[in-house]
Parts: sequence; C-alpha cells; structure tokens
Amino acid sequence: MEILTITTQPFSDQRPGTSGLRKKVRIFQAPHYLENFVQSIFDTQTDLKGGVLVLGGDGRYYNRQAIQIIIRMAAANGVAKVIVGQGGLLSTPAASCLIRKYQTNGGIILSASHNPGGPDGDFGIKFNTANGGPAPEGVTEAIFAHTRKITEYRTLAFDAIDLDTIGSLSLGQTGVEVIDPVADYAALMEDLFDFDRIRQLFDSGLFSMRFDAMHAITGPYAKRILEEMLGAEPGTVINGDPKEDFGGGHPDPNLVHAHEVVTLTSGRNAVDFAAASDGDGDRNMILGRNFFVTPSDSLAVMAANAHHIKGYAGGINGVARSMPTSQAVDRVAEELGLDCYETPTGWKFFGNLLDAKRITLCGEESFGTGSDHVREKDGLWAVLFWLNLLAVRKMSVKEIVQEHWWRFGRNFYTRYDYEGIDTEAANGLMTHLQARLADLPGTTLDGYIVDYADNFAYTDPVDGSVSKNQGVRIGFTDGSRIVYRLSGTGTAGATLRVYLEAYESDTEKQGRKTAEVMHPLVEIAIGIAEIVSRTGRKEPTVIT
Ligand code: G1P
Ligand code: ZN
Repeated sequence: MEILTITTQPFSDQRPGTSGLRKKVRIFQAPHYLENFVQSIFDTQTDLKGGVLVLGGDGRYYNRQAIQIIIRMAAANGVAKVIVGQGGLLSTPAASCLIRKYQTNGGIILSASHNPGGPDGDFGIKFNTANGGPAPEGVTEAIFAHTRKITEYRTLAFDAIDLDTIGSLSLGQTGVEVIDPVADYAALMEDLFDFDRIRQLFDSGLFSMRFDAMHAITGPYAKRILEEMLGAEPGTVINGDPKEDFGGGHPDPNLVHAHEVVTLTSGRNAVDFAAASDGDGDRNMILGRNFFVTPSDSLAVMAANAHHIKGYAGGINGVARSMPTSQAVDRVAEELGLDCYETPTGWKFFGNLLDAKRITLCGEESFGTGSDHVREKDGLWAVLFWLNLLAVRKMSVKEIVQEHWWRFGRNFYTRYDYEGIDTEAANGLMTHLQARLADLPGTTLDGYIVDYADNFAYTDPVDGSVSKNQGVRIGFTDGSRIVYRLSGTGTAGATLRVYLEAYESDTEKQGRKTAEVMHPLVEIAIGIAEIVSRTGRKEPTVIT
C-alpha cells in the first residue's frame, strides 16, 4: 500500500493543556491540523514504531473520521498493531485498562471529556504512555515542540476500514484489531469488586438506583455491568445511548448539568443511590437519597472504607489529592497512618506515585476518583466502589457520610467557576493576586487570620520534576482555604476557578448548609481577587 508523505506547516497553538489538546471541532477539521499533532506523537514517541497502539474515543462528533485518519497514519508510521474499540469507542479508563493489560506502547484517546460536542462543540486528543496514564509534561512538551517545526506527515492512500465489526484486519504491514470496548474493562471491575454482594443488593428488591450516562460513552459500559452482569433492573441506566452531540447536553456530572438524575433522588419515589459520568467516562458524581456526596468527601470515604472492598482489602499504600481538593482525605490518612500527597491539578501528576506504589487511591474535587487499577480517573469504578460499600455496610449513602464526618470532621467545600472571561483580565487578576501574597500572612480578613499565602509548586517525589505556578493558595489558621487557578481545559477565553473549603469538627454544626457556611469565605475570596471589577462578573457561571 502506498505511503504518502504530505508537506505541511506548523500550527502555533498545539500545546496540550491539563488533559491533552482541546479545541473546537472546526479547528481540528482544518486541513493538516489533526495530522500534524498525530505525526508529532509518532515522531517523538519512537517506541510506537514496530509497537502496539490502543486507539479509541468518546464517540463525539468527528470521532469516527479522526480514528480513520489516525489508523492510516499509524500504518504509514510503522506501528505493528492498532487495538481499536468497536465503532471507534473506548472510555478513557477502558483505554488505560487496555494499554496496561496488553502491555502496549501507549494509546491515543480522542475526547474533550465533559465539554459539549457536535459540529460547534469541542474535540480533543491526548497521548497516554505505556503505563496507561496521560503523558507527563516532559512528553507533552516534546510533542508540542515538534508541532512547532513539523514539515511533513505520513499517511496511507486508503479510504476507510470497517470499525463496526469485531475482528482482525490488516492495513499494509499493520494489524488492526477491532475489539469489544467493554469486555476487558468489565473483567477488571469483576476482579476488584464483590459482584455477588452487589447482585444480592439488587436482588433484594429493597434497593433502587439510577445511573445517568448523559448520552455519552459510559452507556454501553453501565448497561453491560450494572444491568446485565449485576442484575440491576432494566432502565437503571438512563440516557444510555452515546450520541455525537451528547443529545445537545453538557456531559459533565455535577449538580447543574446532571440535573435530571439529581431530581430522581428526591420525592416520594426517590431512589437510594444515583450517579452520573461524563463524556469520556472518567468523572463521577455520587448521590444518595436527598444527598450529594462532594467528590472530596467521596475520596475520603473510600480511603476510610477501602478495607471493606475486595480489591483493596489487603491494605492501601497511600493516598493523593490535587491541591484544590478538600483536605478531608488528609485527615483519614493521618488517622490511619497513610502517606498523603498533594499534587497539582490534572491526573497526570498521580501517575508516578501510582507506578512507584506510593499511593493506591487518588482523587480531585472535579468529580474524579480512581486507584492503581488503571492510570486514569474512573467514573464507573467509583460507582461500583460505592455500590460495593453500600452492599457490605448495609447503610444508606447519607449514613455512611455522616458517620464519616462524626469520626473525621467535615470539610465543607464549594467551587465557583467564572467561565469564558476575557483572557487578559484573567491573567491580570492572577498577577494581582500574586503581588499580594507576600503581605497576606498574619493579616486578619473578616475575622479569618491568614496563615500562609503562596503560589503552589510541586516537586514530584519520584522523578524530582518541578511544576510551578499551579494555583494561588490562601490558608487560614482555622484550616479553611481559598484557592484560585485558571482552567487548562477550556477552548474559549479563560475560566477562573475559585475553590473554597472550611473545616468543622463540631458534630452539632456539621448539618449546616454549605452555602451558609461558605458565605464569609466567598466574600473574602471575591474581595481579595477583585473579581467583580476585573472580570465584570457579579456571579459565577457555575457553583458546585
Ligand atoms: C479540569 C479539572 C481537573 C481535571 C481536568 C480533566 O481541569 O479542574 O481537576 O483533571 O479538568 O478532567 P481545568 O479545566 O481546571 O484545568
Ligand atoms: Zn472526562
């Protein structure tokens, strides 16, 4: 088959962000745009030549076309075998699972995660290394550097292969294996969790749940695992058919965007347990009857209860959380004598800690939790963890979390997002905050005494790499915190995230409303950063 060498010119905007390269679909559709980035992966990740590549995406608009382009380029670049999910589909955690299980040389995942899809929506691409995790900064920077000087890419003169039939094909010297996207992942879940116990819970007839796949990738995974393997009643999975535009929705599992499933947890016929996952299946939201579990609490509860779960009963190595995530898990680690790490935002920072067996569980406030079973956060895994816990402990979600608060104290938590603000205004705000840091410690703001104020920097304890400018932190003497950072995943303007946390050990006061508890801190946060005058926004776009 003829290999074509196509002349191209660099694009200047191909630096991957928090999680790969994300742009509007139309940018990816521009001639050579996707190809330049993909060729830069092949040119810098030389193990792929003669190696095996996992390939799949979340099914959003342009997924199919992009998969075909990448398969042709993989063949032209000498990849020995491409393992691709049927229909071009793979959830992000399932792709990570496959890379690890079949010891491949890496994987390419097509997704813009929770960002909306469709012709006017977002698209994305990221490279995962042989450990199954998102490429670390050294790798993404090398790929980016290559995109700045690329002059040509290689592809094959071939139209399209059949992605819909499971089986093996060949394209020139390259084997293409189209696989069931769910089977290997489901087998891994069965190893980790007590499926018999969960089945008994569903069989009891006393327990009901709904899982909202938000018309995204987890539909087929959740239907197979929850309804077929675990016996949950048909209809447990809602919005379970993946659509290219996610049904016009915003596939982000939070109280705002996953509102439909939230409503099913209240009222006379409220379900006992509900959950949702995002576009590519790595995020999760956990709900009980009339009860929302913050992602930070979910991680802490998992750490405190891991011994109840089959796959973790032998003990866990340690835990990690991203810096803006609440310190709830730190308290569990302290009491259980576990190591606890604070990393910058983004899953890629957990990879080294997991590989070095320093940690077993990790999570982010942004609806992400995971463990050493793969190297991505994993939405359905978190749901199964909770289901297993409910089955073993025979308590409700609310009872489990309240008991946790009584034992460890409660970390009230909220996040304000100001989306699509002017980039210069956002940068100006961060510069302004930076300039105030030195003077803040020791001052009193509305009764709160500033303990420390800094711009978070992280030294990876495994490879010594340093990541600076990871967010401004202001900590108060009572344990509360305000954190500011700019999003690295957006595709339009800038998004300012303000993370707020307050600690309460008094059980009598743990039932207070989050908004009420956080109000004084919110006011302080808005004031110090001059948010209203600098962004022109009186209110955030989303509060979670
Ligand atoms: C956001 C989240 C971050 C998460 C990332 C990918 O990144 O805040 O925790 O790892 O999405 O899901 P951000 O937009 O804040 O850079
Ligand atoms: Zn995601």
